[in-house]
Amino acid sequence: MVMSQAEAASDQEGYLQALGPLRVLVEDDNLTEIMVVGPDMVYVESHGRILLTDVRFKDQEHLLKVIDLIVSAVGRRIDTRQPLCDARLLDGSRVNAVVPPVAIDGPILTIRKFAKERLRITDLIHFGTITEAAASFLQASVLARANILISGGTGAGKTTLLNICSGFIPPDERIVTVEDAAELQLHQEHVCRLESRPPDVRGEGRIGIRELVINALRMRPDRIVVGEVRGGEALDMLQAMNTGHDGSMTTVHANSPRDSLSRLETQVLMGGIELPSKAIRQQIASAINIVVQLNRLRDGSRRITAISEVVGMEGETISMQDIFLMKAEGADGQGNLKTTLELTGVRPQILDRLFDMGLPLPPEISRLFPDRRGDQVAAVRLPTPPAGPLQRRLG
Ligand SMILES: Nc1ncnc2c1ncn2[C@@H]1O[C@H](COP(=O)(O)OP(=O)(O)OP(=O)(O)O)[C@@H](O)[C@H]1O
Ligand SMILES: [Mg+2]
Repeated sequence: MVMSQAEAASDQEGYLQALGPLRVLVEDDNLTEIMVVGPDMVYVESHGRILLTDVRFKDQEHLLKVIDLIVSAVGRRIDTRQPLCDARLLDGSRVNAVVPPVAIDGPILTIRKFAKERLRITDLIHFGTITEAAASFLQASVLARANILISGGTGAGKTTLLNICSGFIPPDERIVTVEDAAELQLHQEHVCRLESRPPDVRGEGRIGIRELVINALRMRPDRIVVGEVRGGEALDMLQAMNTGHDGSMTTVHANSPRDSLSRLETQVLMGGIELPSKAIRQQIASAINIVVQLNRLRDGSRRITAISEVVGMEGETISMQDIFLMKAEGADGQGNLKTTLELTGVRPQILDRLFDMGLPLPPEISRLFPDRRGDQVAAVRLPTPPAGPLQRRLG
């Protein structure tokens, strides 16, 4: 079905009208999130901070009507029988609505605004999320086909960083992306984008991330990029990473690099496959090379707090080493935290692969870790750092 320009425009106008009092907020590009808690409680996130706006709905009925219009505009339904709804709006924004009886104080609506332009690596360097040296290290790791796990809490910037890292993939490789709500914006041409599908109004026809990951493997991908692993698909993703689709990437919801690996382990178990813990950990240890940890600090800023490397197994435990760690350096007059992301001095295992491939490395790294291939020393394996929780606390 081909839509005429006039029809598309009226569709867009109809959708904007359906937004009612929220229209001004949806059209404001400075806002990243719109959070409606009640008819007279509409919050927004702007530049990392949450603010209460003066946008009001007449009453709960009015709010419910707007929610109903928003979700039905994209062919979804929300009512007392199906009180939860996740949807993607026409402009790409993600919306989640919860209505009574599940939302006990009245309807709740959360809109993650679609960023017209995803942030670029230069923006992240400018914001202080990452340093130039760490960015070059990540870029070299992507080129060297490291499997990368991006870990962080809600809204920490995982998808943004995944998008940036995927952007480092050379244009001659075939990429398959799998997402719950398509958010990635890759600039490469040869990209196959898959999006999961929620059940229809009769509760049928659901296609989950796991099915899509399995399908992606049949599409001869060079790399698979999965928006987020939450459940059983973790096992399929790890197997993909271990069987020739190296250079794949995904994100996970976790608070530290060590925690991200435990999450993966739990998710593999959620897939219903009975594997001993040690076997799962071995899969994880051989699949994941680099974990990038993102955290939101208390001033609202988003920072990479660690870039760690998975180096193998020690007994029953996966051993990790930190390559970069964030250091807090106090705060300025306005309460903004000052931080740096520093090399820990531990020699990354992946370095030899980077040298072998002749990938350019930031001077900070090559100065600290000269190319030792060919030296006697190169034959000596680095001692694995002591195992144990690398749990870090912020702030
Ligand atoms: N480093 C950053 N500095 C400032 N803002 C950022 C940064 N990274 C992302 N953002 C902004 O923060 C918001 C959330 O980013 P993103 O969607 O990448 O987070 P997420 O961790 O994937 O969230 P979720 O848990 O909901 O999937 C977006 O509006 C994005 O533009
Ligand atoms: Mg995300």
